[in-house]
Amino acid sequence: MSQPEPSSKRSKAGLFQRLKELDRPDVEFFINGDKYLAKLGDTVLTAILTNQTAVRKTEFSGQARAGFCLMGACQDCWVRLADGQPIRACSTMIEQGMQIVTNFAQGNNHG
Ligand code: FES
Repeated sequence: MSQPEPSSKRSKAGLFQRLKELDRPDVEFFINGDKYLAKLGDTVLTAILTNQTAVRKTEFSGQARAGFCLMGACQDCWVRLADGQPIRACSTMIEQGMQIVTNFAQGNNHG
């Protein structure tokens, strides 16, 4: 029995694995300047975690975070857009060309 095809070229490295709706259109987006693929209709959290194992690093200790509630309650998934605007990844839809910054805890784009 074969496994489903990955949703993007980097999905094998992700915490989430897409099992359904593989035929939704691809959406190109960027994490810290690197290009990735998501699916139209993904949240930013899903887009990130199908490509990476963490959504961000905490600004307090630098430890990796992956969100917790996935429904807008825990505040564990805040990331930023390239212009510095904070967004809650689990309740924001991915958009074509979206520039997401997750490494602000390391001194980049920390405002
Ligand atoms: S994962 Fe809890 S608010 Fe986003």
